[in-house]
Amino acid sequence: MKKRIGVLLSGRGSNFEAIAENVAAGHIPNAEIAIVISNREGAPGIERARARGIETRVIPSKGLEREVYDRQVVAVLREKQVDLVCLAGFMRLLSPYFVAAFPQHILNIHPSLLPSFPGLEAQRQALEHGVKWSGCSVHFVDENLDAGPIIVQTPVEVLDTDTPETLAARILKEEHRIYTEAVRIVFGGRFRIEGRRVVGV
Ligand code: GAR
Repeated sequence: MKKRIGVLLSGRGSNFEAIAENVAAGHIPNAEIAIVISNREGAPGIERARARGIETRVIPSKGLEREVYDRQVVAVLREKQVDLVCLAGFMRLLSPYFVAAFPQHILNIHPSLLPSFPGLEAQRQALEHGVKWSGCSVHFVDENLDAGPIIVQTPVEVLDTDTPETLAARILKEEHRIYTEAVRIVFGGRFRIEGRRVVGV
């Protein structure tokens, strides 16, 4: 049986689309995207998923207590028999309930070399701090913001001429590559987690 991926997003959905492309091209063997869920009405990522014929669900989060919301999302992910949850620009913290529902099977991508610059506008944070290198990270998700053991990282040089937008664009290209790499590592299963370290076996 194919491994089933559930994608959660809040906006544009370019990381979702990169994963979808790589699934379609066979770069993530024996996998399929079972469902794309957005917490925001009108997220462009939902339209992208529909255009690919992938099942979608909008579950609005506004005004709901975190765990109440997460219970709704986890119920859909279970109904769809999802094996791996990929957060792709899903701008919400997960409750302990959600994290415990998919132990070591929730991934997130973030546009910085974590633990530097968690949270919003990571690329702007990098420029304002004056780092010469930034990049992106895919990590397992825990209850904390952009935390959890790191699976793949890649550096991107910060240029003197960069704006947050130009830096974000170069980082995004790498995000699209490393998210698939991380999914392959997790599905491949040849790793173990030692404390915060994800090490190959
Ligand atoms: C991506 O750059 C992703 O790394 C970032 O949001 C963007 C979503 O773009 N995520 C975070 O900042 C998480 N803290 P996308 O919707 O086109 O994939």
